[in-house]
Amino acid sequence: MTAGVNLLNPSIMNNIYEPDYVKKLFDQMSGSYERMNYVTSFGYSIRWRKQMLQKLGQSDQPLKVLDLLSGLGENWVYLKQHFPNAHFFALDFSEGMMARAQRKAQKVFKGNLNHYCEDVLYNELPDAHFDIISCAFGLKTFNPEQLHILAGQINRLLKPGGKFCFIEVSKPTPSLLQAGYRFYLGKMIPVIGKLFLGNPDDYKMLWIYTRQFENSKQVKEIFTRQGLEVNYDQYLFGCATGISGVKTKGQVLL
Ligand SMILES: C[S@@+](CC[C@H](N)C(=O)[O-])C[C@H]1O[C@@H](n2cnc3c(N)ncnc32)[C@H](O)[C@@H]1O
Repeated sequence: MTAGVNLLNPSIMNNIYEPDYVKKLFDQMSGSYERMNYVTSFGYSIRWRKQMLQKLGQSDQPLKVLDLLSGLGENWVYLKQHFPNAHFFALDFSEGMMARAQRKAQKVFKGNLNHYCEDVLYNELPDAHFDIISCAFGLKTFNPEQLHILAGQINRLLKPGGKFCFIEVSKPTPSLLQAGYRFYLGKMIPVIGKLFLGNPDDYKMLWIYTRQFENSKQVKEIFTRQGLEVNYDQYLFGCATGISGVKTKGQVLL
């Protein structure tokens, strides 16, 4: 696991969407990420996560469920509640995050989890294998070109009729909330980052990604272009946005 690299150093900050850069960032944040996520969203990350997963419905069938960019396994308890008899798969490329997710994996899935350390954009999971794909708070570290590759991967990995959902922290719609959002994410989060042990610079980076990302509108367009059926979802006046939908039986447009 990498530790202590200053990721705001301009000499290594020339492409913040480079997989190596993103991987280092999450390796460094892995010790404080879960607490920070909770504190910085005032607990809303949990509520939004549950609301997102409701888009997938529930089933007691032995479905194949894949949690992408799974981090510390924040979705897992809820996925298990929605799909009690499913086979579970999770993918993340940060060894730091994966190592810290092991205990939760054991507790929630009791050995029924295939955990892959891979880049989702170039993963080797099999075609048309999954009934369900979930992904929380991982969209912001992709640029539009990478989002296009991601959409292609979702189309490839899902079975026809398979469902997916994504969510990301976003710029809210009402202008009053926008000012609060800028102040909170830009100024407060680095301070909270310091108080809660992590490196405040890493959390500044999260603000930089979130500001660039804005909302999931372009994600919806990109996924729709792949032939997927896509809904645009808003949570708390747009403080988080996402997409959810289905792979219809259409052509794979990779
Ligand atoms: C913001 S965290 C989200 C973690 C978790 N899903 C949650 O709900 O809090 C994003 C995660 O995506 C992973 N990630 C980012 N880009 C990735 C990629 N290209 N391939 C695999 N994992 C990636 C990071 O390592 C990190 O664990």
